[in-house]
Amino acid sequence: MGEHEQVRPLALVGDRQSSDEGASLHQKKRGKKCCAFTVAIFVILVIAIVVVRFTVFRVKDPIIKMNDVTVTRLELTNGTIPKPGVNISLIADVSVKNPNLASFKYRTTTTTLYYHGQVVGEARNGPGHARARKTMRMNVTVDIILDRIMSNPSLNADFISGLLSMNAYTQVPGRMKIVIVKRNIVVKMNCSMALNITNQQVQTQECKQKVDY
Ligand SMILES: *[C@@H]1O[C@H](CO)[C@@H](O)[C@H](O)[C@H]1NC(C)=O
Ligand SMILES: *[C@@H]1O[C@H](CO)[C@@H](O)[C@H](O)[C@H]1NC(C)=O
Ligand SMILES: *[C@@H]1O[C@H](CO)[C@@H](O)[C@H](O)[C@H]1NC(C)=O
Ligand SMILES: *[C@@H]1O[C@H](CO)[C@@H](O)[C@H](O)[C@H]1NC(C)=O
Ligand SMILES: *[C@@H]1O[C@H](CO)[C@@H](O)[C@H](O)[C@H]1NC(C)=O
Repeated sequence: MGEHEQVRPLALVGDRQSSDEGASLHQKKRGKKCCAFTVAIFVILVIAIVVVRFTVFRVKDPIIKMNDVTVTRLELTNGTIPKPGVNISLIADVSVKNPNLASFKYRTTTTTLYYHGQVVGEARNGPGHARARKTMRMNVTVDIILDRIMSNPSLNADFISGLLSMNAYTQVPGRMKIVIVKRNIVVKMNCSMALNITNQQVQTQECKQKVDY
């Protein structure tokens, strides 16, 4: 739209060179064209302000969804008790939906795993790029220091109930880009989940999300 409006002054120059007759009429015409041009610029400016106001200054939160958590490398003795000294790995399949018209470029993602308030694992995921209005998926691998879980006094109760309750805290630092405007944001997600010890699946999951600008 902006490009079309900018072409007009050039056409005006061409008009003036081609004809010297009816100068006053021409000036009137020119005045109207100039006026239309000014109005058009004004309208474009207003639209630009409105667009920026409703996108840059009212950024919709990216939607992060944990699709699946797979437990790999879990060695058990007698089917229930993990071997002492072994670590477990979790692979979290995460979707990041970017509902904005802006693209979201994120840096290294950090996920910390808590077991009853104690840090029992950490994971990092490489940088990436979520295009405007698109969803992207990634796998996050979390290594768990099992000895810390084993020494936690809450473990016995969790084993009796058959559910291992955990908290995963993820931070996604990144940058939003709308046309030429860039904004740094950090998406923070705190998920509480319960792992079923029998089938090693995530039984319940609840996430809270916050965006820092
Ligand atoms: C595993 O079970 C066997 C018998 O089924 C028992 O002898 C052994 O002590 C058990 N091991 C542990 C670590 O509980
Ligand atoms: C488990 O993880 C801890 C901390 O990262 C490490 O020191 C230990 O060697 C690991 N154990 C195994 C069996 O990989
Ligand atoms: C995540 O892992 C699953 C299974 O290991 C694989 O099928 C999928 O392609 C992976 N996704 C990404 C984005 O790497
Ligand atoms: C864990 O999963 C098994 C098999 O799916 C199920 O029978 C059991 O009830 C689950 N445990 C809990 C505590 O929900
Ligand atoms: C995550 O939420 C739980 C409650 O659901 C809270 O106890 C914990 O402190 C929170 N963790 C962080 C890092 O905010």
